[in-house]
Amino acid sequence: PKDVGILAMEMYFPTRCISQEELEEFDGVAKGKYTIGLGQKFMATCDDREDINTFLLTVTHNLLEKYNIDPKSIGRIDVGTETAVDLSKASKTFLMDLFASHGNTDVEGVDSKNACYGSTAALFNAVNWVESSSWDGRNALVVCGDIAIYAEGSGRPSGGAGACAMLIGPNAPLVLEPIHGTHMVHAYDFYKPKLDSEYPEVDGPLSITSYTSAIDAAYSAFKKKHALKAKKSGSEAPPFSLDDVDYPVFHSPYGKMVQKAHGRLVYNDFLANPTHPKYASIQNTAALLAQDYKESLLDKTLEKTFINLAKSHFDSHVELGMKCSRRCGNMYTGSLYGGLASLVSSVEPSEFLGKRISMFAYGSGLASSFFTIKVKGDTSEIKNKLDLVKRLAAMKVVPCQEYVDALKLREESHLSKTWKPQGSVDNIWPGGYYVESVDGKYRRQYLRK
Ligand code: ACO
Repeated sequence: PKDVGILAMEMYFPTRCISQEELEEFDGVAKGKYTIGLGQKFMATCDDREDINTFLLTVTHNLLEKYNIDPKSIGRIDVGTETAVDLSKASKTFLMDLFASHGNTDVEGVDSKNACYGSTAALFNAVNWVESSSWDGRNALVVCGDIAIYAEGSGRPSGGAGACAMLIGPNAPLVLEPIHGTHMVHAYDFYKPKLDSEYPEVDGPLSITSYTSAIDAAYSAFKKKHALKAKKSGSEAPPFSLDDVDYPVFHSPYGKMVQKAHGRLVYNDFLANPTHPKYASIQNTAALLAQDYKESLLDKTLEKTFINLAKSHFDSHVELGMKCSRRCGNMYTGSLYGGLASLVSSVEPSEFLGKRISMFAYGSGLASSFFTIKVKGDTSEIKNKLDLVKRLAAMKVVPCQEYVDALKLREESHLSKTWKPQGSVDNIWPGGYYVESVDGKYRRQYLRK
């Protein structure tokens, strides 16, 4: 098969969100702490009427319906999530209802888990399957998403919720290119050791330097493989840099982190080619080149220098991929693909054709990859069917107290059996799945509105 990649996309987000400006006031923190400091605008929320399986069922069912996909035409489903409600039973198995009811149980794939990275592991698995000798000629699905919630404190404004489903197969308009630069090491930056709670344990400062060092290492691994490939093919092209990318998309824990990450890529390009005229405005080149690596991760002046240098490119190109994260906040595994959906929704298909997108996936703990996608076909159908701008605008901005109440309901229902959710079904979109009940053996019953 040729040109394996993304044939179709669908996004899911809850009906409700809260304003970060209002949350600053509600939490009694300094004005600007969430909106300027973290670069946050809104954050999606849901109560005990929803869980990760309702998110994934909704986004998958809607994808199948919108694109008229025959459930029998799917041969593999890879799920990425860190919000699973069962330590053994994969969320993928809940999706099987949509396929088994059409007589299709021959569907490979289960869940991939590592914080926000599971979706990228799922995507690589699905693409590799289509490109492999065990491919049976059918398409694959990648389904990912999370409910990102934090205990009261500095992590809370970096929450969010949402999910994404993608159809994977040959001759795609969005083709995954073969080089991946990956960086994976053991770190305790963000993890979920408390099985009786949905809230993570977070080392905030470590999570930021871990993300930053991961982008350095994954980008460097990518560039090294790119150079090796170029050398093998006898290419005289200059080393890979952001000049080879039209639209960079990043995993977005919060807006400011994406700005830091984008600036960091520009810094990496600067280190590789410091005399290029585009860095003429940089005053302290010699000091920057001599700087110790660990110091560079914490150097605020360095960070500001490259964020400023990258600002106009950020505003004109990176921001296009942030529509979902600006409205919904962090969707963990869904974040990077919500970024891709935002970009597809923002660029005219005729202008998009032939362009290259870079993707940076980061999951705490930690796993990260830098890879690229080439736009090789017409993205009009995906753009139209996503209808993203209108759908994001249709979300209801609710008072912050409603957010806190929703979290309280989630806390009470977590691990409960014989549970009837308290949250109103009015807060579910038409066509959305919701939790009807949890029985005495913890079995969840789902219904579609
Ligand atoms: N006005 C403007 N800016 C402000 C204000 C204010 N009133 N108050 C603080 N700031 C700025 C700070 O100067 C800082 O800016 P900088 O990033 O340029 O240094 C920024 O806001 C953050 O403030 P801090 O006090 O440094 O950090 P905070 O205690 O708010 O915590 C953190 C931020 C660590 C991101 C927290 O929200 C968190 O733990 N989130 C969850 C983990 C996370 O998302 N990590 C990222 C990668 S891992 C993942 O994807 C889950």
